Amino acid sequence: MVKDIVEAMTTNETSFFRDQNPFDRLKEVVLPHMLKTRMNHRRMRTWCAAASSGQEPYSIAMILKEMETQFTGWRNEIIGTDLSDEILAKAREGLYTQFEVQRGLPIQLLMKYFTQEGDKWRINEPIRKMISYQPFNLLESMAAFGQFDIIFCRNVLIYFDEKTKADILNRMSKHLAPDGFLFLGGAETVIGITDVFKPMPGQRGLYVHENSPHLVKAA
Ligand SMILES: C[S@@+](CC[C@H](N)C(=O)[O-])C[C@H]1O[C@@H](n2cnc3c(N)ncnc32)[C@H](O)[C@@H]1O
Repeated sequence: MVKDIVEAMTTNETSFFRDQNPFDRLKEVVLPHMLKTRMNHRRMRTWCAAASSGQEPYSIAMILKEMETQFTGWRNEIIGTDLSDEILAKAREGLYTQFEVQRGLPIQLLMKYFTQEGDKWRINEPIRKMISYQPFNLLESMAAFGQFDIIFCRNVLIYFDEKTKADILNRMSKHLAPDGFLFLGGAETVIGITDVFKPMPGQRGLYVHENSPHLVKAA
């Protein structure tokens, strides 16, 4: 039992474009909103709060790269954090097995953004440089992070009890722009845990502030 819990707490299970739907929401809902509303200062900050071995932040970076003509002149910052130093070292290295690149990554993106090294694939430097990785425990103060426009916190809250989930979400809400977006994993929700975030109607896996302009628009 204890072994199972420890294993669950330390699982780094991830894949490129995991579950696909959140990345479609990012492309179709979130980024068009950012392009419209941040046009003046051309700055966007994204936090991947359980980055694991990097597949999630690199998926986001590839989407932004594919849209680079629309983001000309923007400063797009992506911060990838995780509890485990070891897994962050793998993320920084950006070197993946054939098995890892076969899970969820479209072949065109593999060909475009990776280089083969022996029997592995390394993500190219321009994509690697889009992300800055740093160790961070979600149970600690987020004060140093400032404000983000988009937060991915996927498939990590499942490991915490309800009180801890609420505490993390409540603190995280203070670091998300008023019209920002939060992505949670498919088995995660805010319902029954906290009122600071609400599900974005019709957009599975996507959450916004309780007073978000997106909810007023949708009502
Ligand atoms: C299952 S992976 C999810 C990776 C990615 N977000 C995804 O959805 O594919 C969970 C990650 O959460 C990290 N983690 C576990 N507890 C954490 C904590 N207290 N603070 C930050 N990261 C944590 C683990 O090290 C692991 O890499």
